[in-house]
Amino acid sequence: MNYDLIDICEKLEKDGYCLIDKFWDKNLDLEIENFFNNNIQPLEKKTKIDEYGNRCFSIADNEIQNNPFDKIKKSTEFIDLYKKILAHNNIETNNDLDIHNVISYQKNEKNLNKTISSKLHFDAFYLTIIITIKKSNNDLSGSTGSLILYPNLRKKSKSSINNYLYKFLFQNLIARWILNFSFFKQKLRATTISVDNNKVILFYGYRSLHGNEALKNSNLKVNAIFHVFNPHKHSKLDNFIFNRNKKIRNNKLNN
Ligand SMILES: [Fe+2]
Repeated sequence: MNYDLIDICEKLEKDGYCLIDKFWDKNLDLEIENFFNNNIQPLEKKTKIDEYGNRCFSIADNEIQNNPFDKIKKSTEFIDLYKKILAHNNIETNNDLDIHNVISYQKNEKNLNKTISSKLHFDAFYLTIIITIKKSNNDLSGSTGSLILYPNLRKKSKSSINNYLYKFLFQNLIARWILNFSFFKQKLRATTISVDNNKVILFYGYRSLHGNEALKNSNLKVNAIFHVFNPHKHSKLDNFIFNRNKKIRNNKLNN
């Protein structure tokens, strides 16, 4: 891979995110396209419209067969990328390293008066890598579900309890309301990123508060998200939440 990994790590620290080019071939692109048409899109009819006026669902890891993103996950380029970034953060990687792959589908059906399509949160996993599978070309600002990022607000917590205390502090109605003021946005270097179809975005999802702008005007957004390294993998609370999220995902598709 031709990437300058030092440059990527510096950008992640300084800007809070980094955009890189795709690192797989045209054949895999074709496989992804077929997978989208045959396996992902047909699931849309099973879903309801959510509070933001979107049809949305997600599927993770082995919840769907023939997932072409498994190939990306196992590719040398991908492994090299996350290993170097984690090493740069003094995180040792071994065979126990967990990577959680989520395919998320969102299509706007009703134009509601919303400015977001997902609330600000910290991920459970340290590094987040997002690949765009499909995205509407209509790129009117605030209508395509762009990423809202408050970069690198925290470091890795020493314990799972501390992690949830931090989450509790930021992931609530009042904090989210305050953070929306331009004073705090400026202070915390908040930014909105629209990712091009051909780019892959990386950021520290665990350290950065992030959410998404609204999806409007029948726009579509389908992503493959890789979550890499859960610092609190063995915590009971984390396992509980992980399983709860799995149930939420399944309920959305099976009701
Ligand atoms: Fe996230």
